[in-house]
Amino acid sequence: MIRVQNLGKDFRSGRRQVEALDGVSFNVEPGEALAVVGKSGSGKTTLLNCIGGLERPDRGSVASLGVNLHELSRHALSMFQREHLGFVFQFGNLLSYLTVYENIEFPLALNGIPRQERDLRIGALLEKVGLASSARALPGELSGGEVQRISFARAIAHRPQILLADEPTASLDSQTGHDLVQLMLDVLRDQAASLIVATHDPVVTELADSIMHLRDGRIVDEAQTAVL
Ligand SMILES: Nc1ncnc2c1ncn2[C@@H]1O[C@H](COP(=O)(O)OP(=O)(O)OP(=O)(O)O)[C@@H](O)[C@H]1O
Ligand SMILES: [Mg+2]
Repeated sequence: MIRVQNLGKDFRSGRRQVEALDGVSFNVEPGEALAVVGKSGSGKTTLLNCIGGLERPDRGSVASLGVNLHELSRHALSMFQREHLGFVFQFGNLLSYLTVYENIEFPLALNGIPRQERDLRIGALLEKVGLASSARALPGELSGGEVQRISFARAIAHRPQILLADEPTASLDSQTGHDLVQLMLDVLRDQAASLIVATHDPVVTELADSIMHLRDGRIVDEAQTAVL
C-alpha cells in the first residue's frame, strides 16, 4: 500500500523555478497497477523519484507499507529501498561493467539471498524476459529494448512489494511491450505488490487498473485533459 499525501516538489535552476509537483494525493493498494500519464515535463519522473525515496519532496508525505519514507534516516531508507522497492528507470541504469547475470544478481546479493537460490531465480527471470542466452553479455552489447527487459528483471528479482517503473516500454515494439507489462502485472498479482508506472504507451494504460493524469505537477481529471 502506498499513500501519497499533498506531495509538492520545487526545482530552482538559476532564475527558473518549477513546481514539478503540487498537491498530489492518491493511494495505491496491494495488487493494484496505477499508470501515470502526462506530457513531457509534467512531473512523472519526479513523482516516482519522491515515492522511491530518490528525491526528497518539499511538501507532503509518502507512506509505503506503513512507513513514512522521508522520516527515515539515510541508512534506514536504503535498507527499505533494497528490500521493498523495485525501480525500472527511464534510461535503463544497468551497471555497464557487470554482465546481465551480475546486474540481476546485485539486488539479490544485497538482500543476502544464497548463491543457489540466486542462480535459480536469475535463470527463471531471464527465461521470462526472453533473454536466457544473454546472461554473459554486457549491457553495451544489448539493444535498447533488451536493456529495458533486463532492467525489469533486475527490478523484480528480490520480489519487492513496491514496483516503480518509468516508461518501461519506451524502446519496445508493441508486442514485446505488451508481454513485458503482462509480466509486470503477473508479478504484481502473485506478490500483492503495488505498481506505479509512468508511461505514454497505450499498451500500458489499457492494462493498468487506474490512470492518473498529471499536468504541470498537478492531478487533473481525464475529461478535462481530453479537451485540452
Ligand atoms: N533536477 C532537476 N533540476 C531542475 N529542474 C528539474 C529537475 N528534474 C526535473 N526538473 C523539472 O521538473 C519538471 C518535471 O520533470 P519530470 O522529469 O518529472 O517530467 P516527466 O513528466 O518525467 O517528463 P518526461 O515525459 O519528459 O520524462 C520539468 O519542468 C523539469 O524541467
Ligand atoms: Mg520522465
